[in-house]
Amino acid sequence: MCTRVPSVTTALVAAGAVVALVRPSLSAQDGLYAPPQAGRGASLYEERCLSCHGELTAFVPEVAALLGDHTFRNRWKGRTVGELFELVQVEMPQDDPGSLTPAETADLVAYILSGNRLGAGDRALPETPEQLTQPLFQP
Ligand code: HEC
Repeated sequence: MCTRVPSVTTALVAAGAVVALVRPSLSAQDGLYAPPQAGRGASLYEERCLSCHGELTAFVPEVAALLGDHTFRNRWKGRTVGELFELVQVEMPQDDPGSLTPAETADLVAYILSGNRLGAGDRALPETPEQLTQPLFQP
């Protein structure tokens, strides 16, 4: 199932309102991570990522939410969760790349998924990107 929402039009119509909060999830990829991972990822994000990337869950048009907005979703549509995992592990945080453990990276990816309104499931997100071949967002 694919719910296409013309986000630009929606944003214009509802100018000023917090549009994203009422928009349905744009992806069918729910259930890829467990809730405690996203919780740990949230603290880690605040410590290591927030200064450059801004609040993930601030879906307010004026606030930069670089990893949780529609530009991010468009850029990652069709690319795999594993690709995101590898980018974070290898290139981030940009001021200290390579410093995250696989477990920390999985927590952060789980938090990024949750911040993009993808729901949690029963199983933890694996720490091995080779296993994460699912598309992050449906093309
Ligand atoms: C010192 C600033 C800085 C910090 C800290 C930082 N990043 Fe980044 N990040 C960047 C910049 C700049 C880019 C864009 C890089 C590029 O396009 O080459 C980026 C890109 C990204 C992307 C790809 C975004 C996209 O739209 O494709 C992800 C995912 C990401 N960062 C995650 C993280 C995570 C997770 C952390 C915390 C562990 C983090 N970053 C910490 C500066 C930072």
